Amino acid sequence: NIEAQNARESLYIVSEYAATYFANEMWTGEQGRAIGLSYFKERGFREDIVKKFQLGYSPDVWDALIQSAVAAGHKEEYLEKTGLSIRNDKGKLYDRFRGRVMFPIHNFTGRVIGFGGRTLKTDKNVPKYVNSPESDIYHKSNVLYGLFHAKKAIRDTDNCYLVEGYADVLAVHQAGIENVVASSGTSLTTEQIRLIGRFSQNVTILYDGDAAGIKASLRGLDMILEEGLNVKVVLFPDGHDPDSYMHHVGSGEFKKYIENNRKDFILYKASILLKEAGTDPIKRAGIIRDIVESIAKIPDDIKASIFIRECSGLLQVEERILLSELNKIRVAKF
Ligand code: UTP
Ligand code: MN
Ligand code: MN
Ligand code: MN
Ligand code: MN
Repeated sequence: NIEAQNARESLYIVSEYAATYFANEMWTGEQGRAIGLSYFKERGFREDIVKKFQLGYSPDVWDALIQSAVAAGHKEEYLEKTGLSIRNDKGKLYDRFRGRVMFPIHNFTGRVIGFGGRTLKTDKNVPKYVNSPESDIYHKSNVLYGLFHAKKAIRDTDNCYLVEGYADVLAVHQAGIENVVASSGTSLTTEQIRLIGRFSQNVTILYDGDAAGIKASLRGLDMILEEGLNVKVVLFPDGHDPDSYMHHVGSGEFKKYIENNRKDFILYKASILLKEAGTDPIKRAGIIRDIVESIAKIPDDIKASIFIRECSGLLQVEERILLSELNKIRVAKF
């Protein structure tokens, strides 16, 4: 359908225009340089990273982008359809992103399809990130932030680091690790895992070292296992996320930390759950079942049996007991 294709093309074009506009505002605008660029510098991001990811700044004005885009010949219709602009009850159009640093989101062919905008305020009532809504070119469940810049490195290293946020992708890149993506704007989806699977079968989760991040990592690793991919996890200390930890210890230490603290999912799950359970024997039995439930998600029987053996050694439970537990769970699933 040519018409639909043309309409989509118009959404790509106006999104690219907006990315260029926000970047220009940051590098050449007075507000942009003083507020936006200095924000990234203060956070410790290098200029080459800021440029590579086409970061920008949206002026703190109601319709700065609209004015510029319309003057350049873009239609309001497309600004609205990408969600870059919003029409209020009175029919007046205003910009979604105002006074925020801007992270363009690219699809894996490198076209801009949406944005994340971070506030510079510390006010708790202001949402930290505002994201583009879904549109005809932006389907959140099958987009990974950073994939365009990471895909070659994911193939070459045969591993994909998975982080929570935009800033984490930048920081990990800055540390010289380019095979990194984020499931920004949504919690991890099956489509996103399949997308990773087109480049590598190995995922290493680097989520935030806080309660929310740990919870998300446990959910994520089960989903990754279910898709037949291999998964490891690195837990960061003291509530750090990859971005804060990289800037805290420097890129050399950061890389060493990842190398030395990468745990396969069983070891990771066991260490998290055992900490919670202490010495309570009933709770410990629950943990064993919980880990076997993760193993039961692995579609490949041979792989599953290898993990059963590992689990048996680690938790000091006979392999035969674990296998019967595994079979019970599998039977129950059918
Ligand atoms: P975090 O709260 O961990 O933010 O959310 P962050 O990435 O560490 O942000 P910085 O370092 O303070 O800049 C992780 C991700 O969840 C999404 C964003 O994609 C963010 O990067 N998020 C978070 C939102 O979409 N909206 C929010 O209000 C907060
Ligand atoms: Mn579509
Ligand atoms: Mn977080
Ligand atoms: Mn974070
Ligand atoms: Mn952060």
